[in-house]
Amino acid sequence: MSIEQEFADKLVQYKHIIYKVCFMYADNKDDVNDLYQESVFNIWKSYQSFRGESSFTTWVYRISLNTCISDFRKKKKHDYVPLEQQVDIMEDCERNELLKEMYSLIKRLNKVDRMFILLWLDEKSYDEIAEITGTSRNNVAIKLHRIKEKLKNMIMDNLIEAIRQLKQKKNAVILGHYYQKGEIQDIADYVGDSLALAQWAARTEADIIVMCGVHFMGETAKVLCPDKKVLVPDMAAGCSLADSCPADKFSQFVKEHPGYTVISYVNTTAAVKAVTDVVVTSTNAKQIVESFPKDEKIIFGPDRNLGNYINSVTGRNMLLWNGACHVHEEFSVEKIVEIKQQHPDAVVLAHPECKSTVLKLADVVGSTAALLKYAVTHPEKSYIVATESGILHEMRKQCPQTTFIPAPPNDSTCACNECGYMRLNTLGKLYDCLKNESPEIKVDAEIAEKAVKPIKRMLEISAQLGL
Ligand code: 13P
Ligand code: SF4
Repeated sequence: MSIEQEFADKLVQYKHIIYKVCFMYADNKDDVNDLYQESVFNIWKSYQSFRGESSFTTWVYRISLNTCISDFRKKKKHDYVPLEQQVDIMEDCERNELLKEMYSLIKRLNKVDRMFILLWLDEKSYDEIAEITGTSRNNVAIKLHRIKEKLKNMIMDNLIEAIRQLKQKKNAVILGHYYQKGEIQDIADYVGDSLALAQWAARTEADIIVMCGVHFMGETAKVLCPDKKVLVPDMAAGCSLADSCPADKFSQFVKEHPGYTVISYVNTTAAVKAVTDVVVTSTNAKQIVESFPKDEKIIFGPDRNLGNYINSVTGRNMLLWNGACHVHEEFSVEKIVEIKQQHPDAVVLAHPECKSTVLKLADVVGSTAALLKYAVTHPEKSYIVATESGILHEMRKQCPQTTFIPAPPNDSTCACNECGYMRLNTLGKLYDCLKNESPEIKVDAEIAEKAVKPIKRMLEISAQLGL
């Protein structure tokens, strides 16, 4: 076989590498082709002397990169290429969505960083990258770590900007619960507890509500605003407490106790709310229960811990549904006592969904909003916080000098003080749900018609109480 034929065969196998390198350095489609031609010419020029090289791939890489870099130096091109232009080129060059996104960001890196990440994306080993770029293996590891961090930040910034633009274009509002990941709380228009989220949903003028929380929060917003689109980033974001109270069983329980007023915690499905007289949240549960006469016969569901706590502070004897939240039930007295020994001056804050033994040793018991308010008004103290650890994000934001220690769960090997449902929501899913206007919360019209009454009743009483 002639050397020309041999080279032509090799080129068929390796042209994607050359093409990719050229793409990374080109400003437009014509440039890609020019650089490709020049690289192939340079590779051909020294093809005969290649024989001694250890790896043909490495060699092809090096010559293509050198060609592009020297061209870059010659033309002194600027590093930044407008995003739309990159996407145009990319649409011709690459069909893979993920790579397209990645390349558009990589093109914003400086040319040396670009070269390293390109090699890494092509699954070259650290030793191979060191050989191609003429540096040490150690240096490759350090450089790649730094570049990956830079890319991660760029991806985040891109995503945040894209979410902001979509939100504006679609006249959407983003509501976020305190248990959301920090980056979601940061991008939300409003962050609050369950009561505040319902209040904001009821008064918003936006066309779309994106509820960054869990399913029952989305349902509450939809029931309050039937004409608006209510989206959730992840439909699987449920709630163990709401799950502990199936609507058919709860309705049966209510039927078995005629003459009882039914008070339900907001952490329930719309179908449970439909057989409820008034909804409460942990912010207003005490006051709403107290608004009924002392001898009122009351069913309270589904949280047995909150119910027990309200019974203890109001002197009532409400009939309790036996439900609980798996996150709050995990906090243990022993672990909190252990932490308290290391921080004897720390104030223990606890959510009323915790077990009564935990609530007994707490200095302050309250909803997420109440615990936050306490910390903000006493920033000089330090705190052990027995509720989902997402609340620490806002606490630390509002009181940067204060020490907040998340109360450890019983099993210290798990992150059980994080609600797995709440944490299902991510920036990526938030972007997708705004872009696709899906997943959307739908509530059966008949159920919604019944469920809206106890929710509105709660909002009215809360407004009267100034909550
Ligand atoms: P609040 O937001 O009312 O404090 O309730 C906590 C909770 O469990 C939400 O899921
Ligand atoms: Fe439900 Fe508990 Fe998660 Fe709140 S923390 S959403 S009550 S599972």
